[in-house]
Amino acid sequence: MTAIETKERLTPGPASSAMLWEYAPSLESTDHVKVASRYNLFIGGQFVEPHSKRWFETINPSTEETLAEIAEADAEDVDRAVGEARRAYDKVWRKISPSERAKYIFRIARLIQEKSRALAIVETMNGGKPIKESRDIDIPLSAAHFFYYAGWADKLEYAFPNRTVSSIGVAGQIIPWNFPLLMAAWKLAPALAAGNTIVLKPAETTSLTSMLLAEIIQEADLPPGVVNIITGAGGTGAALVSHPDVDKIAFTGSTEVGKRIQRSIAGSKKRLTLELGGKAPNIVFEDAPLDQAIEGIINGIYFNQGHVCCAGSRLFVQESIVEPVIRKLRDRITTLRVGNPLDKNTDIGAINSRAQLEKIRELVESGVEEGAEMYQSSCTLPARGFWFAPTFFTGVSQSSRIAQEEIFGPVLSILTFRTPEEAIEKANNTPYGLSAGVWTEKGSRILKMVSKLRAGVIWANTYNKFDPASPFGGYKESGFGREGGLHGLAPYVKLS
Ligand code: NAI
Ligand code: MG
Repeated sequence: MTAIETKERLTPGPASSAMLWEYAPSLESTDHVKVASRYNLFIGGQFVEPHSKRWFETINPSTEETLAEIAEADAEDVDRAVGEARRAYDKVWRKISPSERAKYIFRIARLIQEKSRALAIVETMNGGKPIKESRDIDIPLSAAHFFYYAGWADKLEYAFPNRTVSSIGVAGQIIPWNFPLLMAAWKLAPALAAGNTIVLKPAETTSLTSMLLAEIIQEADLPPGVVNIITGAGGTGAALVSHPDVDKIAFTGSTEVGKRIQRSIAGSKKRLTLELGGKAPNIVFEDAPLDQAIEGIINGIYFNQGHVCCAGSRLFVQESIVEPVIRKLRDRITTLRVGNPLDKNTDIGAINSRAQLEKIRELVESGVEEGAEMYQSSCTLPARGFWFAPTFFTGVSQSSRIAQEEIFGPVLSILTFRTPEEAIEKANNTPYGLSAGVWTEKGSRILKMVSKLRAGVIWANTYNKFDPASPFGGYKESGFGREGGLHGLAPYVKLS
């Protein structure tokens, strides 16, 4: 028996069990969605077999069933993709008028909207996230991102007044598995708007929506080679990073790989932006609207199974309200529905991969061993697939691994504070600096906290709100560079 199983499992108390409603299944139908048995590389506007002649399986993490085979690009494939991107840049994309560029980007946005239902289903099948999230958040935000940057394409001189703006060249972009299509949109849209061409590499567990995006790009009739999408794992990413003809690297993923990338391109002409991990403080003051804060805490850590770089994974509660906050959180996590991601009532879907599940388990066990007290929802987990029940820890010390390391799962660490100064000091005691949350009725306190918290994005009395017009990015080991908004154009332009 593991440490996890020996600890307290929550069951709804008498008051709530009397009112507990069983939800009837409400499955999104998948009949109309076509997933091919095999996907090749998208290079120079065509789907081509990989030089490696190798394919790997991509699965549904909620069933462990194989969905398709994905091509594994080797260094020669990378070279071919970069070559096509360079040719398209020199011959076409840098030359066409900005308003023409905008039309293509608008077209991609509209096609994403048109195909949103299928995209949401495939995102959910391949990544494990609840359909209500892929349907209401990932896919609409992806379209919104393309719409937003399409609008900038012919207005760059207003984005950077009194400067001459030009494109950079070929961008190599590497993205993670937690928001597959949305991260592709965050990368592609500003790069295209600024007049660059691209080689994009999705994460190995979640390539499918990128391949559907490749089909959309074909349908939008983008000039061949402007966007190339190559699949594969870390080796493919490393080959893209080290290719001599890439001008800019944009990476979202682990801090470990981000550091490796930064080291490997040091001294080269390549520009770099990194969006890495986080261990965000979510700070609740005693005057906060409590029920609203509870929903913000839940959303902050359990959204997308906690596979969120800006997740509010360290909760700081003012000492005077610790008791009601913990009681309310205990009640609330028992009501979260964990299970089939294609069910429209599901709140928490499958963990993205076996490797990620093992990482979560290992860190949770370390929390138990270090003496923190664990609360876990007693929900029934499906027999197949990768699952982790919503969990939180109390009595967590600052130095504990679960207070310092990114768990990237549905696991919250709760700490306490007495004064705003103590909250700031504890919140900033982390190698990361991506995001933070503050809950209080006092506007002046919000402003004070915001000026002292070392985090790129700070939400007040809300959490995990995204908008394409709003810049996103980190300090310290969370990386550098901003995505979204006007700021998101800067990494893709040369100014003189
Ligand atoms: P990872 O950083 O290895 O993977 C992210 C992307 O980088 C994938 O496309 C992967 O194929 C690629 N990659 C891997 N090694 C590379 C290399 N040497 N050169 C170039 N590209 C490379 O992340 P992983 O292993 O999937 O997850 C490990 C942990 O990282 C997670 O548990 C989480 O804590 C963190 N993470 C943070 C993310 C964020 O959004 N900030 C996203 C994904 C993971
Ligand atoms: Mg890795």
